[in-house]
Amino acid sequence: MSTVQDALQALTDLTPGRQQLLADAVAGLSRAQRQLPSKYFYDAHGSRLFERITHTPEYYPTRTELALLDLVLPDIARRVGPHAHVVELGSGSGRKTARLLDALHQPVAYTPIEISRAALLSSIELLAPALPHVEMLPVCADFTRPVQVPLPTRPAARRLVFFPGSTLGNFAGDDAIALLRAMRQTMGADGLALIGIDLHKDPALIEAAYNDADGITAAFTLNLLTRLNREVGSDFDLQGFRHRARYSTARLRIETDLVSQYEQDVHLDGRTFHFQTGEPIRVEYSHKYTDASFDHLLQQAGLEVVAHWNASDPAYGLRLLRASAQ
Ligand code: TRP
Repeated sequence: MSTVQDALQALTDLTPGRQQLLADAVAGLSRAQRQLPSKYFYDAHGSRLFERITHTPEYYPTRTELALLDLVLPDIARRVGPHAHVVELGSGSGRKTARLLDALHQPVAYTPIEISRAALLSSIELLAPALPHVEMLPVCADFTRPVQVPLPTRPAARRLVFFPGSTLGNFAGDDAIALLRAMRQTMGADGLALIGIDLHKDPALIEAAYNDADGITAAFTLNLLTRLNREVGSDFDLQGFRHRARYSTARLRIETDLVSQYEQDVHLDGRTFHFQTGEPIRVEYSHKYTDASFDHLLQQAGLEVVAHWNASDPAYGLRLLRASAQ
């Protein structure tokens, strides 16, 4: 039996601290093309706002992925086999995980790796009571850095890395390849990975998903500046920056910026950052894939497709992956 208490006892805490946030913010704001890392969206408030984005009518990825998962989970469970240890990257609320763990045959353990401690704790509170025979081994960490996955008390037959939500799309070029390579390490030679990817489609549909009419996405991206003001003492004027998300059909990606509304100075850690009117801070990419572009990415990371499923209208994909022989 595993309880919420056991899970909290087992929690590994590697959350990036204030120093890391400050160093990343200073480095990103000092570049000619200013940027801030999107992983810092997910403080407690940011994680709640993101959860709300996933319920907006415009944001199709979450409900499309959930519906596709429901269709194909029996097939996935058969291919994964019994006694798996599920390792999830950026687990968020745990809504998708509940269905996965429920469908798998006697999974032995679950390790959510999540940067938001608040989201991690509430997902464990949701999952642990419903799945008393699954050992909960949560890790509070930035999954883009190497993480030692805790070993379950009962040995697992194999690992299944779960990476839904098209979070891979938030990484550009070499970062995406590096992340897939790290995933290959984490899953091991006999392991598998189940990954969700958003597919290229009508740009108007994609842009709407990142510009919901109620402005929840705008509040979500601006919360990054609120967080910096609170945690590293910057003085971003929240009226002085606006959310903008545009789809690049050349690069097949949403580019999200916070755009300076007038000429202004922002102070941080004794430094002054001068912004022109209209100057952007790039805060996020969301890459959309074609079957071919995703296969090409996999190849570069030493991974291959075991099974693939696509939803159409809106297009969205799930892929079961393994390490390719190299
Ligand atoms: N992985 C999600 C995506 O790319 C994250 C996300 C959704 C997001 N909406 C956002 C990130 C708005 C930044 C801004 O779809």
